[in-house]
Amino acid sequence: MPATCDVVVLLSGTGSNLQALIDSTRTGNSPVRIAAVISNRADAYGLQRARDAGIETRSLDHKAFEGREAFDAALIELIDAFNPKLVVLAGFMRILSADFVRHYAGRLLNIHPSLLPKYKGLHTHQRALETGDTEHGCSVHFVTEELDGGPLVVQAVIPVELQDSPQSLAQRVHTQEHLIYPMAVRWFAEGRLSLGEDGALLDGKLLAPSGHLIRI
Ligand code: GRF
Repeated sequence: MPATCDVVVLLSGTGSNLQALIDSTRTGNSPVRIAAVISNRADAYGLQRARDAGIETRSLDHKAFEGREAFDAALIELIDAFNPKLVVLAGFMRILSADFVRHYAGRLLNIHPSLLPKYKGLHTHQRALETGDTEHGCSVHFVTEELDGGPLVVQAVIPVELQDSPQSLAQRVHTQEHLIYPMAVRWFAEGRLSLGEDGALLDGKLLAPSGHLIRI
């Protein structure tokens, strides 16, 4: 049984991915311990989910800071007070400074609602439909200085149906997010997942550029 891995989760919104992570820590001898949930929005529902689960919460309003660097420096201080081995971005709607990303190099994960490198940024479901893609999905990746561009860990691929709307697609992608994010976090906590010079490593082996692929 590996040692406990303390994780800090950052979010700005509803936190359904946080909920999936919380639920996953309650089953099967999980080595993951969510030490704290931090939001840049005091009213984020994700903070309520954390409180309901007895997890420490903090909020730090980015509008109270002069610029990204100052906010990120304060955020680092807040996070590091919990001494986490891993920082998990779960719908944290802030672009992070290079200093922040470097500070957590190799221990910062994000989830994105597209099959990266396709559709970085926002409105991913609508863009996949407009392009006429037959497949869509979500990606977990290590965070680097390139926005939505770090080495991929795992992707879940789902078929796009003829009658899909951005909403229906978002819903099915979300369901997959809730499976692959806890899985990737657990791999990290078990010491199986790391960031190497050439990309993400699982069990010491370099993953394919797409990461571990799961087809639904
Ligand atoms: C998810 O779609 C995730 O891929 C993106 O932000 C959204 C967060 O959703 N990074 P939730 O707050 O976890 O429900």
